[in-house]
Amino acid sequence: MQGLFITFEGGEGAGKSTQIARLAEHLRAGGDDVLATREPGGSPGAEALRHVILSGAAEPFGPAMEALLFAAARNDHVEQVMRPALRSGRMVLCDRYIDSSRVYQGVTGDLDPDLMHAIEKVAINGLVPDLTIILDLPAEVGLQRANARRGEGTADRFEKETVEMHAKRRDAYLAIADAEPERCKVIAGDRPAGEIARQIAELVDDLKASRGMKAVRTAEVAR
Ligand SMILES: Nc1ncnc2c1ncn2[C@@H]1O[C@H](COP(=O)(O)OP(=O)(O)O)[C@@H](O)[C@H]1O
Ligand SMILES: [Mg+2]
Repeated sequence: MQGLFITFEGGEGAGKSTQIARLAEHLRAGGDDVLATREPGGSPGAEALRHVILSGAAEPFGPAMEALLFAAARNDHVEQVMRPALRSGRMVLCDRYIDSSRVYQGVTGDLDPDLMHAIEKVAINGLVPDLTIILDLPAEVGLQRANARRGEGTADRFEKETVEMHAKRRDAYLAIADAEPERCKVIAGDRPAGEIARQIAELVDDLKASRGMKAVRTAEVAR
């Protein structure tokens, strides 16, 4: 018994959290056992590292050391939580994963691709997603959404960076999708959330069917 591993990627405010909640609801309505989780974090060890990373405490160490912290957190999350869940047949939906590292530390952190590849390999130990949803939208739109969501709160380590940086990340995500079209599906994020949710539900139902898993008709579940 093996569940599906689906990751959600995209810039700040792209709609990852919103769409994970919608897909979890869709899958649960169809009888699946769903684990919705996130990175950095998702296990006690990784959540402790999440605080170190997102508070900016690790920023002075430089992007390479930050990438190692992300990798340590990821490995704990993979081995303690996600792999066991998949083995027991659960559907695992993860908010950010390897592509966030490739984009944030690799591309905009300007780290050596060979180093990034080596770090990724030890972090995930073969746990590649069955499907990666890349929510794509203009950097300005995403940042506006993230700012609106935050209200009076302060921006985290990554949210406070410039629009140009976020635009560069958008391009990097699209390049990954070009390079790995089987795993990665680009979904236009600048549309009503319900419309996006239906498209994702259909994609996942098709994937389940292709793996011989039962899938309820999307139309019966998603409005
Ligand atoms: N399709 C959408 N259209 C308009 N606003 C959206 C849409 N999806 C999400 N939002 C809003 O934008 C903000 C960021 O969405 P969120 O799902 O938290 O993004 P992320 O997790 O990718 O940072 C939230 O306030 C959310 O309610
Ligand atoms: Mg989110």
